[in-house]
Amino acid sequence: MPATQSDAFVRHDLMEQLVDARQRTDDLFAVVKADSLYERPIAERHRIVFYVGHLEAFDWNLFHERVLGLKSFYPEFDRLFAFGIDPVGGGVPTDQPSDWPKIAAVRDYVKRIREVLDEKLSDALADSVPPTPDGFALSPLLNVAIEHRPMHAETLAYMLHQLPLHRKVPHKESPNTLAPPVAHRSIDIPAGSVTLGLGRDDGLFGWDNEYEAHRVDVPAFTISSSSTRRDMKRKRSGETVTTMQTGTGNPSTESRIPLSGSMKAIAGGTARCSTMSHCR
Ligand SMILES: [Fe+2]
Repeated sequence: MPATQSDAFVRHDLMEQLVDARQRTDDLFAVVKADSLYERPIAERHRIVFYVGHLEAFDWNLFHERVLGLKSFYPEFDRLFAFGIDPVGGGVPTDQPSDWPKIAAVRDYVKRIREVLDEKLSDALADSVPPTPDGFALSPLLNVAIEHRPMHAETLAYMLHQLPLHRKVPHKESPNTLAPPVAHRSIDIPAGSVTLGLGRDDGLFGWDNEYEAHRVDVPAFTISSSSTRRDMKRKRSGETVTTMQTGTGNPSTESRIPLSGSMKAIAGGTARCSTMSHCR
């Protein structure tokens, strides 16, 4: 089937989204001084260097063999940065900085993967490669790779917040921290019907547990205009967003639902990603 102008737009858009997503996590890593990349700001999580390699290893493990038919050039890193170094006995990790590769080698791994994926994925999108043997088309897999980054950006942001100031690169200009006080108010939402989940034929990307679509009648209610503490706590736990399309003319209403196992199902193998708990 010949590619249409719309197909070309989707291809371009997906690759652009991947590049943008990389920039978001690159910006976060740039906050950390070079001599502090082996720090572990949160005892239960990996050292920062793991995440530098992990984001690329995830993409590579997702695409290189099943989609692109490429051999790995560094299988040891593919495994290390997919799984990390698991603590023995279920306690907090005890690995030492010396257990990890030098940052120059990790940066080289990242650079090489990006170069290969950028070229090969663009070709594969242009050629409309057939679905993988396990039934996934390239477009949903790319969406998995794209969404994986901001999920980690969120957890990295609060992890780096725990990093001592002297380990961060200072901003040239102080951010403007003055802001007007938040004006709390209540919003009345009228009764209406809402569609939860996605229909298989909607043509929209979703995780496996975000299908099927079903409609629910919701009575009128009142909601605060500001996030509550509980919202913030749930956000930090790595849950992901699904969109509720309301029947009240407000398509932007969002609800957070757990994503247990969905990304794992689509990524599989050594990619090993479900929720953010997978890579501490
Ligand atoms: Fe991950």
